[in-house]
Amino acid sequence: MKIIVHADAEGAARAGARIVAEVVRRKPNAVLGLATGHTPLELYGELIRMHREEGLDFSRVTTFNLDEYRDLPPGHPASYHAYMEKNLFRHINVPGQNIHIPDGRAEDVPAFCEVFEESIRKAGGVDLQILGVGTNGHIGFNEPSSDFRSRTHLARLTESTRRDNAFAFENSETTPPHAITMGLGTIMDSRSILFLALGERKAQIVADAVEGPVTEMVPASVLQGHPDVTVILDEPAASRLRRVARV
Ligand code: F6R
Repeated sequence: MKIIVHADAEGAARAGARIVAEVVRRKPNAVLGLATGHTPLELYGELIRMHREEGLDFSRVTTFNLDEYRDLPPGHPASYHAYMEKNLFRHINVPGQNIHIPDGRAEDVPAFCEVFEESIRKAGGVDLQILGVGTNGHIGFNEPSSDFRSRTHLARLTESTRRDNAFAFENSETTPPHAITMGLGTIMDSRSILFLALGERKAQIVADAVEGPVTEMVPASVLQGHPDVTVILDEPAASRLRRVARV
């Protein structure tokens, strides 16, 4: 794992966006794996700026999102479909037919998950997967005790995740209890991974994921076994790491 620590979230987001941009410039038909949540917002903002001001071209890029809540219509303001549209897709030139986000309303979930996996394979696999991390160590919605080999599936959210995500709903009771998520095995198949964590509230889980034992109780620790992971942190998120080079 390559660990890069920036003084603040803005520097971390810019560094993350530079990595995404390099992949897209080197391989114009790159396949990007995308995350939602607070963490990548500034990174997406920087990609939008690069598209507008530097001509960063997404016209041949294909995207796969990690997850979507079960039973939430794509138009629901808290859906990840709506998030992606608002925070990235409507501002750049990735073609609609190249965008893949799990369908939270799929009738036959196992069949949908197989098709999603097959679409990733047909696209040639994910070149760069962007990841945030939950305070309990989840990546995607792979909660503690998820199988390291899991593929895209329907996952049950823990109470702590529902509390963390309640801001988008009325309260944690109305936060959906299930989501469709890429599995840990799906994520580990990506050729490279950009793991971004910001803020003091992520400090302990970052230390556990990066320096702690590899255990299914900390799903993000699986990344220690991936050959090409760049961890980008701000100072507060890095504050509990013992071995780290700061830029
Ligand atoms: C989002 C996702 C989640 C988030 C994680 C952190 O698509 O897969 O694993 O990355 O919950 O969320 P934030 O960034 O809001 O702290």
